[in-house]
Amino acid sequence: MVDLSIGTPVDQTPAVLRDALAGAADAPGYPTALGTPALRTAAAAWLRRRLDVEVAESPDGPPPLIPTVGSKELVALLPTLLGLQGSATTVVLPEVAYPTYEVGAVLAGLAVRRSDVPPADGAGISLVWLNSPGNPHGRVLTDDELRTWVAWGRSHGIPVVADECYITLGWDVRPRSILHPAVAGDDHTGLLAVHSLSKQSTAAGYRGGLLSGDPALVRQVWEVRRHLGLLVPAPVQAAMAAAFDDDAHVDAQRERYRSRRDRLAAAVRDAGMRIEHSEAGLYLWATRDEDCWTTIDRLAGLGIVAAPGSFYGPAGARHVRLALTATDERIDAAVERLRG
Ligand SMILES: Cc1ncc(COP(=O)(O)O)c(C=O)c1O
Repeated sequence: MVDLSIGTPVDQTPAVLRDALAGAADAPGYPTALGTPALRTAAAAWLRRRLDVEVAESPDGPPPLIPTVGSKELVALLPTLLGLQGSATTVVLPEVAYPTYEVGAVLAGLAVRRSDVPPADGAGISLVWLNSPGNPHGRVLTDDELRTWVAWGRSHGIPVVADECYITLGWDVRPRSILHPAVAGDDHTGLLAVHSLSKQSTAAGYRGGLLSGDPALVRQVWEVRRHLGLLVPAPVQAAMAAAFDDDAHVDAQRERYRSRRDRLAAAVRDAGMRIEHSEAGLYLWATRDEDCWTTIDRLAGLGIVAAPGSFYGPAGARHVRLALTATDERIDAAVERLRG
């Protein structure tokens, strides 16, 4: 079996992270929810260097960024941490989406509405989730699309949160952060961005994520997290600082994924499937213009496991998702089987 159904990294965690983790193994005290100064500095520098995003750290003001225990818990808990229960009871999320946005809404007692464009009005809406590059389809929102959401959120006083955990993995386009000045302007009011080391640094087992943006919103999340004990372990904070300081390992891993993507995409197309979007991220979003379970069945017959698009929302029902997070040997095996 070649399992391409799950997006879990399989390559070695780079030495730069492992060494920093080991070097910080002596950790008798509680870690800080705010993040160590070294981590905060490294994360702010990474945002500036890689994404052209400037966050305003001020010694007396609220924090513009905090570390999270990977990004999944933050995605699932954000509506709860922001205390969104009240008269606005709906969270907007993409038509085809990572399931945890819905989990987080339901956990907070909120409803969901799937939409890729801003609703006509903001009545009843408490939060918007964007995901660019998107899982499962690798779609990247254009600057215009991002600006439209930002303007809509601000005009209705509704926070817009962009999950950007694949932002370093653009292939045909360069994904832009919602916090970039070309999108957000000079201030991040009402905006949050979510990043993760899991994919870019091959460190999903470390659980290192980052929340940044509007300091008033970040502060609210941080203050609740302190009281919940949602703390990134100190050795992981050290590894995160080292990871944010080093671009070489991110670039090297990216090239590994690029090569796997090129090989698999060619074989998927030669096998008669159409690939849509997938201009960034770690998945091929493929269709044979048939029900996804028929495609899943066909691939299973070749010994390849893919994820059915219907897992990500009704609009995904005619697609399957193939992950690039497999070893070269497994990708080559999939290519061989597709070429049959
Ligand atoms: C869109 C999206 N957001 C968040 C996550 C969570 O990643 P992590 O918790 O490892 O940071 C994933 C994981 O696959 C994802 O695809």
